[in-house]
Amino acid sequence: MKRVRKAIIPAAGLGTRMLPISAAVCKEMLPIVDLPAMYYLVKEAVDSGITDILIITGRGKGIMEDFFDHSPEYEAALAAKGKCEELKMLQEIANIANISFLRQRETKGLGHAVGRAKSFVGDEPFVVLYGDDIIFSKTPVCRQLIDAYEKYGKSVVGVKGVPIEWIRKYSSLKVDAIEGEDSLYTCTDMIEKPKPGEEFSNLSILGRVLLTPEIFDIIDSLEPGAGGEYQLTDAMKKVAREDGILALEFEGDRYDLGSKIGFLKANIVKGLEHPETKDELREYIKALAEEL
Ligand code: UTP
Repeated sequence: MKRVRKAIIPAAGLGTRMLPISAAVCKEMLPIVDLPAMYYLVKEAVDSGITDILIITGRGKGIMEDFFDHSPEYEAALAAKGKCEELKMLQEIANIANISFLRQRETKGLGHAVGRAKSFVGDEPFVVLYGDDIIFSKTPVCRQLIDAYEKYGKSVVGVKGVPIEWIRKYSSLKVDAIEGEDSLYTCTDMIEKPKPGEEFSNLSILGRVLLTPEIFDIIDSLEPGAGGEYQLTDAMKKVAREDGILALEFEGDRYDLGSKIGFLKANIVKGLEHPETKDELREYIKALAEEL
């Protein structure tokens, strides 16, 4: 079995739910306290053992390339002032992994975005981290997926039980229990954005999948699906129906950074952990809560 060492992060979407800011600043670079959302995705991949990352970008998203590059002016200024901690952080970001960037050119859906990565992936298994889903967990979620893959040798989708309103916007999976497993299922069918009555279960794919390269031939033959886009779920459905796919109910709290409320919640959670903000923020939230 080949080691999983490559990741794709599709981040070319228009981010219409985050307008008007997303018209000028890509949502993947909006800050969670003092680090952009994209940093958390790259860090999760690296902490899971991934060494090579391809970020799928679009027009107006060049700021991501700048962030993961060296910043000679800042590095020189920080060195001159003896600000070693800050300097170390910037250098760590610039050296975090082998990161490359590829433009999707047309935003035709997540399936289309992943399809652009065929030559980057070659003949290896790979993970996909959806560019606006941040997950805070004890064990990085990509690692949780890789562990399941290494045990059973099949593609894995990360899932959670979600409220019905979410299922209509995301996906719904048909699953069977696996003997001896608590949070791992065999998925035999799935549907993207089901209409009322079409749902299989309340399990939905949330932001992380591990796929084998066979998916690219399926993506190449996709027809537009829900919303007129080429849906990755439609490609994974074919694998699920023919071969079975694993569905892992992962451990971790997920925040949809493509939505205003998800963005605010993630900032509160990380603000309550950050040494520079945690005490004052806690007091502020307490005082505010009394007025609510
Ligand atoms: P979303 O559907 O959540 O992102 O796709 P979006 O299209 O930007 O969102 P809205 O609905 O307009 O607000 C999930 C991930 O897939 C990427 C997005 O950037 C996001 O990170 N994506 C989506 C692409 O890379 N290309 C696409 O054509 C569509």
